[in-house]
Amino acid sequence: MNKNVAQGLSKVRNPIEQARGLPNAHYVSQEIYEEERDVLLYSNWAGIGLGSDVPEPGDVMPVEFADLPLLMVRTHDGKVAVYQNTCRHRGMILVSEKCNLRGTIRCPYHSWSYNLDGTLRATPHVGGPGMNYDDNVDRRNLSLFTVRSHLWRDIVFVNVSGDAPDFTDYASKLIRRWHEHEQPMYHGGPVSAFKFDVDCNWKLAVENYCESYHLPWVHPGLNSYSRLEDHYHIEEPGHFAGQGTKVYRQIEGGGGERFPDFDGLGRFWDQGAEYIVLFPNVMLAAQRDHGYAIILLPQGPERTIERNEIYYSFDPTERSDLAALIAKNSDQWRSVLEEDLFVIEGMQRGRHGVKFDGGKFSPRMDGPTHVFHRWVADSIHSVRKQAANGRACS
Ligand code: FES
Ligand SMILES: [Fe+2]
Repeated sequence: MNKNVAQGLSKVRNPIEQARGLPNAHYVSQEIYEEERDVLLYSNWAGIGLGSDVPEPGDVMPVEFADLPLLMVRTHDGKVAVYQNTCRHRGMILVSEKCNLRGTIRCPYHSWSYNLDGTLRATPHVGGPGMNYDDNVDRRNLSLFTVRSHLWRDIVFVNVSGDAPDFTDYASKLIRRWHEHEQPMYHGGPVSAFKFDVDCNWKLAVENYCESYHLPWVHPGLNSYSRLEDHYHIEEPGHFAGQGTKVYRQIEGGGGERFPDFDGLGRFWDQGAEYIVLFPNVMLAAQRDHGYAIILLPQGPERTIERNEIYYSFDPTERSDLAALIAKNSDQWRSVLEEDLFVIEGMQRGRHGVKFDGGKFSPRMDGPTHVFHRWVADSIHSVRKQAANGRACS
């Protein structure tokens, strides 16, 4: 590890007044990307997709999550399971496209077949032509590799390392903060899903989402009614960061129609809304009449796919009268979120400026960003320290 990069990390861990941001290498180096992938993305609970991607039993969807081929499956008992998308025979990728498999995950190479619960069901000709059994191939030990998963707010979270606390403990502070929003949410359908393919490190999308400082210049439309001074910071070190507004304005259709509210929300939500990143990679919005989730799928140090997904308090298939408003809302969010793309790509390009020192935070305006940087730096630091201690003991 380059000594300057290691020293840069210790500056991040200072109080914000003295801190610097993460060094450039954390945004451009393949080596550090892989280290962060293991420490931040695989060892915590990261979002990879949606329950509504696989609504029916037998629905499967492959996901490349930070270099790892995964398969989301809706099982016969209605649960979502996640497996490594790799055949136990010769390691072939099992599923290449989202589809319904009617109960059998069949490898396209030699037709070994798995049940939706991951168990190996059939091994044709494995014992020679016409012999589907072989004493040496014990199917009971050849189930698909299961990845620990949990569904929350329709988001499929995975803990690849398998040793994080249970999701409900991991996210307990956010679940508690938004307990009034623990109620059914319905995906708005195809019109409410859109993707961005962005030339930036995934962390820059997080950092930009955490802060409201950029509103007047990057989102002048939004800022015309929800101004900078109407916003407040949200900081939960080690867990999440974001921003809230005290002036949330509901979208209206041509006839003055609005979306119905979520049930039983307190007075705060009449005017308030919150925008929070649950570390590492899920950006969420809680509002009185709809919410959304943005899942960041890292594609290497300098490229990220963002999945943007909007949710409502009602089933859109039962409210055709609100279809036009759902489409309008999607257009509105798409243009606001698109306004952010030039800054996250611009910050990425800026990080090729070799003299950049991580940047100087505004103690007043950049608190949530620093909370995220500190979480990154503390996590990496502790793993490096353990590795160094391990080397010293051996
Ligand atoms: S690699 Fe899958 S059956 Fe051979
Ligand atoms: Fe923004």
